[in-house]
Amino acid sequence: ARPDALPRDLEGVRVVVSAGGTREPLDPVRYLGNRSSGKQGYALARVAAQRGAEVTLVTAHTVALPDPAGSVVKHVSTAEELRQAVHAEAASADVVVMAAAVADFRPANRADVKIKKSDDRPDPVITLDRNADILAELVRNRRTGQVVVGFAAETGDEHGSVLDHARVKLKRKGADLLVVNAVGDGKAFGTEDNSGWLLGSDGTEIPIPLGAKAELASTVWDAVVSFMKR
Ligand code: CTP
Ligand code: CA
Repeated sequence: ARPDALPRDLEGVRVVVSAGGTREPLDPVRYLGNRSSGKQGYALARVAAQRGAEVTLVTAHTVALPDPAGSVVKHVSTAEELRQAVHAEAASADVVVMAAAVADFRPANRADVKIKKSDDRPDPVITLDRNADILAELVRNRRTGQVVVGFAAETGDEHGSVLDHARVKLKRKGADLLVVNAVGDGKAFGTEDNSGWLLGSDGTEIPIPLGAKAELASTVWDAVVSFMKR
């Protein structure tokens, strides 16, 4: 949709969107990362601003993307930095959308100097510590009326389909809305298009057809607007 064709239904609404993928350092040159491009989060921020919202985008690592028009952009790197930035913004936000791919674990030790290989010592073993679940914290600290939106990239497996896993995750996380993308086989990561479902805590399940990430963003904001009206 052309920006001037979009509704101005987020006028006066303060939103925080997280985007990109966090990096957890192993040493000064290496990190554990993930394949998030950041494109979906940036599309969410851009569309929200076009619909009149006051937007802060907290972004970790992305493919080269220009700052979206109309957003205040805060750049972070690690899950812990993203956590601090998101909580600082969420304290005054009406809506928080966690589109970032947050590392579940970080290396327990971060070497101050580059890790070297040596024939005299055994090869290193990386021990991981668990990172805080930012979305769960947001739900716990939620302000009255604040809408919290999560994302889940799922693969189907022997325990259930993408949708089965997503329904369980929505319950476990306690978010108002969960956007579910099927991943694997080149789906979602880094592509221009996205598809999936939008699950609501009220039991609504909206299929999202394959389309531009801006289209998915519009579907999410439509659902957020109807949640705010309740
Ligand atoms: N998330 C978060 N903090 C984390 C991990 C994830 O806030 N430490 C958020 C993501 O931004 C996303 C949602 O939680 O909005 C779901 O992420 P996902 O990785 O699918 O869920 P997990 O609870 O980490 O479960 P899994 O074991 O499947 O990775
Ligand atoms: Ca995870």
